[in-house]
Amino acid sequence: MERRLSAASRRSAPSPIQQLSHLAQRVGAVNLAEGFPDFPAPPHVKAAAAAAIAADHNQYRHVQGISDILAETAKRDHGLDVDPLTDFVICCGQSEAFAAAIFAIIDPGDEVLLFDPAFETYETCIELARGVPVYVPLDPPSWTLNEDEFLKSFTSRTKAVVLNSPHNPTGKVFSKEELHIIAQACQKTDCFAITDEVYEYITYDENKHISLASLPGMQERAIITSSLSKTYSVTGWRIGWACAPASIASAIRNIHVKLTDSAPAPFQEAALIALTSTPDFYSSLKKDYEVRRDFILQLLKDFGFHISFKPQGSVFVFAELPWSWQISDIDFVTNLINDAGVAVVPGRGFFHRNCDGESYHHRYVRFAFCKSDATLMAAAIRMRKLADTKGKTWLTGSGRQEDQTASASP
Ligand SMILES: Cc1ncc(COP(=O)(O)O)c(C=O)c1O
Repeated sequence: MERRLSAASRRSAPSPIQQLSHLAQRVGAVNLAEGFPDFPAPPHVKAAAAAAIAADHNQYRHVQGISDILAETAKRDHGLDVDPLTDFVICCGQSEAFAAAIFAIIDPGDEVLLFDPAFETYETCIELARGVPVYVPLDPPSWTLNEDEFLKSFTSRTKAVVLNSPHNPTGKVFSKEELHIIAQACQKTDCFAITDEVYEYITYDENKHISLASLPGMQERAIITSSLSKTYSVTGWRIGWACAPASIASAIRNIHVKLTDSAPAPFQEAALIALTSTPDFYSSLKKDYEVRRDFILQLLKDFGFHISFKPQGSVFVFAELPWSWQISDIDFVTNLINDAGVAVVPGRGFFHRNCDGESYHHRYVRFAFCKSDATLMAAAIRMRKLADTKGKTWLTGSGRQEDQTASASP
């Protein structure tokens, strides 16, 4: 019956990236690939979840208190007036909030603008709704919004723009000027904006996260999606939300109820505690991540990368392979797994526009630094050892041939 599977399921088959992930598991590589923390969640949040299980919060549930707190936060952080009774849908992570938002607004043939490179899950949701993803390239090395390219991507079928800031995979935080361009275009063309703000509390240096919804004229057309996953290091708990004006939130809620009914009950209870963490919690989160970011940047520089864009937010470095290294992203990652025992992600999976073999699309590698000190240190030791023993030969891709059977990890 395989031939009767849907076209959408065939399009979302495992990618070369997932195959590399299997290789990494086989050789026991240190994991700087996936964007989930490998350190413990905050004790006060874990205690709240344990207490909620002990108190038998086991059934389908909508915890209204989450919306109440989120409404206060939206006012405090972004000056937004939202109604906690009508404007929130508590979902199974940002992922479900995004899917439900797409199903609520997209008809077959509607076009959705996305910035390229992009986090992988958006496209599948849009295609499942039989919408058409249309990619607008961000310009390297700083992943700047190209206003002309963006404006000319709108057609009479454009229904929504997706904005992820702080951005996975590049670490870009969209500037106020860029947000204004996006906001004006959405209003002029009467489009929705769906934002993905899961890294809202993880920004560096002078960079500040601004919600697109807070720009003049945007709240009525913005669907904010976010979650507990990254801020509280609980990606497996699956608590997220969509926030939109009542009539749009109601449509999203109707879809959400049919998809999953409700988010995990005990973790919704724990969300009440997580979301009321003290200001110290958020400043430590930033500081700790900034230390990790700087550690990984130094490691990459020592290894031979020229870092032309320092992440402004999120938990990734999207590093360009120097042109003198005659090696593609896939080969680099395969070799790094085999020779150093360190797993990272080839950049090409985040690019969606057609590109030829010489394109910069094959020259980026994503390092996730949402990892414990022990993991980051282990990766550093392995990469430094590789650089010391093989150095330039390895980087240029020569010297691999005779090494094909070399042992997997140091
Ligand atoms: C940009 C971005 N959005 C959403 C998610 C997934 O969020 P959630 O765990 O809330 O579904 C991720 C996870 O890596 C991400 O990087």
